[in-house]
Amino acid sequence: MKDKKTIITYGTYDMLHKGHMRLLERAKALGDYLIVGVTDENYDRSRGKLNVVENTKKRIKSIESLDFVDKVIVETHKNQKAEDMLEYDVDIFAIGDDWVGAFDYLNEFTHVEYLARTEGISSTKLRAENFDTIKLGIVGLGRGTQAFIDESKFVSNVKINRIYSPDFLAVKKFTKKSDVIKYGHDNYDDFLDTSISAVYIDTALTSHYKLIKEAIKAGKHVLCENPLALHKNELKELLSLAKEEKVLLLSALKTAFLPAFNQLLTELSEGIIGEVKEVRATRTTLYKEKDYPESFMAQGATNILSSYPSLLVNKILGKSKNITFFDQGFEGYDVSNLIVSKHKGGAVGVSRVATGIKSEGDAVISGTKGYVHIPAPWWLTKKFYVHFEDEHKSQTFNYEFDGCGLRYMIAEFSSLIQRGERKSKMLTPSDMVGINRVLLEYNERKNKEKRKIEKRKNG
Ligand code: CTP
Repeated sequence: MKDKKTIITYGTYDMLHKGHMRLLERAKALGDYLIVGVTDENYDRSRGKLNVVENTKKRIKSIESLDFVDKVIVETHKNQKAEDMLEYDVDIFAIGDDWVGAFDYLNEFTHVEYLARTEGISSTKLRAENFDTIKLGIVGLGRGTQAFIDESKFVSNVKINRIYSPDFLAVKKFTKKSDVIKYGHDNYDDFLDTSISAVYIDTALTSHYKLIKEAIKAGKHVLCENPLALHKNELKELLSLAKEEKVLLLSALKTAFLPAFNQLLTELSEGIIGEVKEVRATRTTLYKEKDYPESFMAQGATNILSSYPSLLVNKILGKSKNITFFDQGFEGYDVSNLIVSKHKGGAVGVSRVATGIKSEGDAVISGTKGYVHIPAPWWLTKKFYVHFEDEHKSQTFNYEFDGCGLRYMIAEFSSLIQRGERKSKMLTPSDMVGINRVLLEYNERKNKEKRKIEKRKNG
């Protein structure tokens, strides 16, 4: 006979409430030793819980402060419950009866007990009571608009209700068909003058700076496709303007907000492959074959695509010290670029982008103890593999998700606004500066070259 009975339970415990506490008290009363598994934020987001207010650390602290809890662990992946039951020799798995039936399969490992849920309270309810829904307007009417709207339906704290595009007829046609957006505008000032508190901008890259600036000045939070600006001073100006106006300005780099991508960064910072010495990432798209207008491609492969590999390189290696470009431009603008950057400790970043050459869109991160491979398309990070000299030690991390991944970005944007935060830990202003540095530097060099040629021509 064992001298103590161990109980385990799991949950998110966001904004700890009396329903949680009653459940935990009753769970403890079933035996002697209570282990509570608090879900990690990346795991929560990967299973569709997108609007959790408190981070993992804060939620752990709240649970640790309860007298009747003996041990707190973190739940990071789907099959962990069975592993924990064996590891801690668990006698009872207790969980609220909103899960009835869902965990019957664990009876194979321990006794499963469903406890009555407390009526009338939940974290979802508290979030809805404490925070206003964010009203968001879309700027631009492009290929990505519908996907953005569809993905926002999975984010409970945001409501998209307006759209702006200078093309009056297109706006009219769109709102007539849309099941979500009923108000269309062809005047930007009028659009900004409505009750929307935030905008999502997806227009030609050359118009971003102006549109962002006006939106910030009107006091709106801005989520904009990258690059936010095409000149160095403009980006700095926008970031300080956002700070001044106390609004959030965020680059719409969806990869930065994906659960797997963030788990990858955590694993790397914990040294899973030792010291990272090289990051290599490729992104190519043959837009021509997808019937994009020439004006789109004329923005150049570096401007259109380099933000993504730069995100990976900068997030892992930090600031680029010096950057070398190996570009090819056989149509009057760059259709491919191999960008090599130097970083702290001599580490090297290699970003490959192309709109005129097709290549494998994967990424490899090499360290002193092993390497990580993210299969194509790496920027929709779902799975990554960690390899070592000894192949038997290889590990796979899997965070599958539905849709195109935009929902994680939309959720982070709206949750930050709701909480009154003006910076995302997943993509800080200095991350944005670092990421944009590559393309801004490229544009600067190109402009210098152009000016030189002009000067020579003129005599
Ligand atoms: N729980 C409960 N009574 C409530 C709310 C939660 O007994 N009114 C229990 C759940 O059944 C689960 C544990 O508390 O066993 C943790 O639940 P969690 O999902 O973190 O809390 P919810 O309030 O249900 O969160 P959400 O609304 O985000 O789903």
